[in-house]
Amino acid sequence: MVRDALIGVFSGFYIVPLYALEHVAREPRMTLLIRRATQYSSRRAEISRFGSGSSRRFVLRKESRSRSMNGYEESVTLEGTSMTVALFLHLISVVVWVGGMFLAYVCVRPTAAEVLEPPQRLRLWEGVFRRFFPWVWAAVILILGSGFYMMGQMAPVRMYVMVMAAIGVVMSMIFMHIYFAPFGRLKRGVAAQDWKGAGAALGQIRMLVGVNLALGLLNVAVAVLGRGS
Ligand code: HEM
Repeated sequence: MVRDALIGVFSGFYIVPLYALEHVAREPRMTLLIRRATQYSSRRAEISRFGSGSSRRFVLRKESRSRSMNGYEESVTLEGTSMTVALFLHLISVVVWVGGMFLAYVCVRPTAAEVLEPPQRLRLWEGVFRRFFPWVWAAVILILGSGFYMMGQMAPVRMYVMVMAAIGVVMSMIFMHIYFAPFGRLKRGVAAQDWKGAGAALGQIRMLVGVNLALGLLNVAVAVLGRGS
């Protein structure tokens, strides 16, 4: 009996250092499972600390997916980072588009009407839109791309995100109409010095940009207030 006890103790002394060595060197399956178990319990603790809203759903989704992949940490950071990059691209595009519409509609429009005669005013707007719209195209592509990507990471997708997506798609369609219809007429009218035709086209652009600005500001409210609900 004494012999068994001694063997038990020594093998303990033998296994622990071996275990530590192997843990550092090759991490056999058993230790991987132990490591995952310890990480899982600390992660559950972290999730319960995270509280409500999309972040909890997002973490849960991450957790269940990554438990089956090799290397727990790598997959978590990859998804976290891509979501953060998507949200950054989403927000920087919103700033450029909605911010640009705000400056044009609220500040430049009344000033141009105050200080410029119709031909100069129409040339000014043709130039402003010719420079602004390529940025809006980039913003529309990035907002839709990042928005649908982030939606793909969410389960379930909450109502406020669906409302934001619908409003965002309507805004994108209004912009495409502006670009291919009245903006084309404005460019041709200015080139032909047809100030009446160009003026009518500018009037339609002004009305549609006003609608898109209101929808854009509404969408920021839906996104931020919806997230907190
Ligand atoms: C111009 C239109 C849009 C505006 C102004 C807008 C605005 C925003 C803002 C401000 C946020 C950040 C919310 C926060 O972190 O508190 C956000 C997040 C988000 N947006 Fe948009 N968005 C627009 C279009 C879209 C579209 C078209 C989609 C889908 C196709 C979309 C899907 C999302 C998603 C999934 C999130 C992350 C929500 C979360 O993490 O809770 N957005 N958006």
